[in-house]
Order: sequence, then C-alpha cells, then structure tokens
Amino acid sequence: MRAVVYEDVRTVGVRDVPDAGLEAETDALVRISSSALCGTDLHMYDGRTGATPGLVLGHEPLGVVEQAGNAVQTIRPGMRVVIPTHLFCGTCAMCARGLSAACLRARPEGVGAAYGYAGMGPYPGAQADLLRVPWADANCVRVPGEPGDAHEDDFVLLADAFVTGWHAAATLAGIEAGDTAAVFGAGAIGLLSAYSALLLGARVVYCVDGVDARVDKAGEVGAVPIDFRRGDPVEQIREHRARAGLPLGEEKLNGVDKVIDAVGFQARDREHPDQERPNQVIADAARLVNPTGATGVAGVYPDTDLQPRPGATAHEDLVAPWGTLFSKGIAVRFGRTHDRRYTLLLRDLVVSGRARPGVIVTHHGTLTDAPQLYQRFDRRDDVIKAVLHP
Ligand SMILES: NC(=O)c1ccc[n+]([C@@H]2O[C@H](COP(=O)([O-])OP(=O)(O)OC[C@H]3O[C@@H](n4cnc5c(N)ncnc54)[C@H](O)[C@@H]3O)[C@@H](O)[C@H]2O)c1
Ligand SMILES: [Zn+2]
Ligand SMILES: [Zn+2]
Repeated sequence: MRAVVYEDVRTVGVRDVPDAGLEAETDALVRISSSALCGTDLHMYDGRTGATPGLVLGHEPLGVVEQAGNAVQTIRPGMRVVIPTHLFCGTCAMCARGLSAACLRARPEGVGAAYGYAGMGPYPGAQADLLRVPWADANCVRVPGEPGDAHEDDFVLLADAFVTGWHAAATLAGIEAGDTAAVFGAGAIGLLSAYSALLLGARVVYCVDGVDARVDKAGEVGAVPIDFRRGDPVEQIREHRARAGLPLGEEKLNGVDKVIDAVGFQARDREHPDQERPNQVIADAARLVNPTGATGVAGVYPDTDLQPRPGATAHEDLVAPWGTLFSKGIAVRFGRTHDRRYTLLLRDLVVSGRARPGVIVTHHGTLTDAPQLYQRFDRRDDVIKAVLHP
C-alpha cells in the first residue's frame, strides 16, 4: 500500500510500505477515504517533537471497514467509520471513565496512544491506503452515508479537529451559555474551538491570529476576528467589549470569561514576529481573562523541543504569570482530547444539520500531493486544513 512517510526534517515522501492487516482477533482493517493533516503533524515535520524516519504519518482517518477480526462484535465490512486519533482499549479503568486519551493499555510504556505520532506508541499512521484499527468495537465509530458524499469533510474532522475544539471549549475552558470567550489561534483547532464555543451558547467569541486567510476564516465561522498585527490583541478585545457597552458597575469585567490557547509552543512572539515565544499566549490569556474565569490549553507543549527556533528553548518549562492567574482565581486546564466522549454527540450535530465543521477545510489532494501540501501547510498561511484522499 502507499503511505505518507516522515523522512527527515521538513521532508515527507510517498512510499510503498507493507500492507496494513489484522494482527489480533479484535482488530479491523479500514480502507481510508479521507485522512487530514494536522498542526500536530507539523510539530513532527519541523523536527520539533522527534519523529523517527520511516514513521507513517496521520491520525485523522475516515473510511470503510474492509475486514474485521473474529472477535469483533459490532463492526462489519462495508461500514463507514471515523477513527478517533487516540486509540484505546475500551475496558481499562481510564477508558471506563471516558478518559480514552489516557488509556492504560494502548501503550506499554505510558498512558494514551495515537496513530502516526512520535512518542505515542507503535501504531502506523492513517495517511495511507489502509489502517489497522486495534480494539475495533471501541475505536470504529459509525457514520451514515457513502464515501465522498456531502459530509466527507465534516466526518473526517470528527477524528480529531472537531473533538479537540469541542473538548477545549466545553471541558478545558468550561464554556457555558452566555459566556464571553476568546480563542488564540485560527488554525483548524482554534476555528473549531470558536465554532464549538458558539454552539455551546457563548454570547461573543473573539478569535486571534495574524494571518489573513485565517483571520478571515474566523469571521466566516461566526467569531469576531482579531488581527494581532494591528496591535495588542488584549487591548483590541477590551476596546471591542467597551464599545459593545459594559453594564453599569461591571466595567471591571472588560476582558472575557473564558480563554482558549489553540496555538501551543510554536507561538509567534508578537514583539518580534520572526521569533517564537512559547509563553506568548498564556501571558496574553492571563491579562485578558476576567476574574474567576478559566483558560483551556489545547495547543501542544512538549517536554523537550528538539529544534528550538530563535526565541524558544530546548526545555519547555513554560514561564506562566502564575501570580496574575492566582490573584484572579483562574482555572487553567491542559490536555489531549478524550475523543470518544464527544464523537457521537458531534456526529449527531453534523447529521442533524446543526454543525458544519467542514467549512474550515481549505485543500484536498491525493497521497501523491502530500509532500507539496505539507510544505505549504508548514507556512501556516492559506492551507488551514488539508485532507488527503488515498
Ligand atoms: N489537545 C489535543 O488533543 C490536540 C489535538 C490536535 C491538535 N492539537 C494542537 O493544537 C495546536 C493547533 O493546531 P492546528 O492544527 O490548529 O495548528 P496550526 O499550526 O494550523 O494553527 C496555529 C495557529 O496559531 C497562530 N498563532 C501563532 N502564534 C500566535 C499568537 N501569538 N497568537 C495567536 N495566534 C498565533 C498561527 O498563525 C496559526 O494560525 C497545535 O499545537 C496542535 O498540535 C492538540
Ligand atoms: Zn490532529
Ligand atoms: Zn483503555
């Protein structure tokens, strides 16, 4: 089969690799119809999080079951399924609690596992013709329709981007109806965090970025776009809040109730745009968030940065304004999404027509297009979300 393979820093190739196949009675084999690229793939592509050459990339698959092992009970060949990024056993103590990204059995040397992902277990990725899915009953989530239909882009985002956006908004930031919110980053994760915040009933959601195509897309999904090239985004949001009119006596609440970091450690330094500043977003969030609010961090912060760019350091010991966060009484939550908690809920919002996450997909290609799409996506410019069709 053909697959997208990490070769070296900023180089991926499309190679023939041995076909994926069933390895346990509980496995399924899925033929991929769509497989998305993610900002997480770029951390590996940029050499920052240490992928091993030869790793098949990809953790956002949608497809059709081709084979199912003898012990698989609910999944049959021919079913259309989306596969959550973080694979899980479905029966351990953490899975039983719905904390699938912290599964105790999927990775012998730690908790949680994912496909095609440095340091997350031995599972080849999904930017390939075929994918082996362990514990198929738990990990194959059925979706209606046929490959290539009008929901293809919506459903592929159920593997990771939409569930992460929802997790960031609903669980990490704890957005509730009536809240004011701000999302830093208008990549796929930021856009779908903002979109989720609106679905959850936030009364206004600001979305901050410094790239034209991404700022525009933030407006398209219903957020108030804030371009940080025009000045301090915290001040811009405060001015917007003041213009909208703060109730008498509530003038001190001119920030937002909930903030989401959908950028991660590769954050741009606003003072020196050619440099990175890993704590830029938490510094802005601490200034912007209203007292007793919350900040949810969905962006990735690795233990070690293997190729720090100017402004970043090898050890991501994030210097956060803990004093400000403490005195304001802010809850700060980090974390990978427990995908499977949200997959059915979000699938049903899509099927009922309430959610169209696919509007954030900007590019489509075949596996052969992967090297060029990775190169363009790495500029973090007009390629916001690219989907490959093997
Ligand atoms: N928690 C999870 O389970 C999970 C799942 C998927 C992705 N992620 C992570 O989420 C992050 C975002 O993913 P993505 O696919 O949207 O990536 P992306 O690289 O496409 O988007 C990041 C965006 O942040 C913007 N940005 C950079 N510096 C900024 C700053 N100082 N202020 C505001 N915006 C700034 C960039 O212009 C870019 O648009 C990545 O770190 C990714 O690894 C986490
Ligand atoms: Zn992803
Ligand atoms: Zn488990």
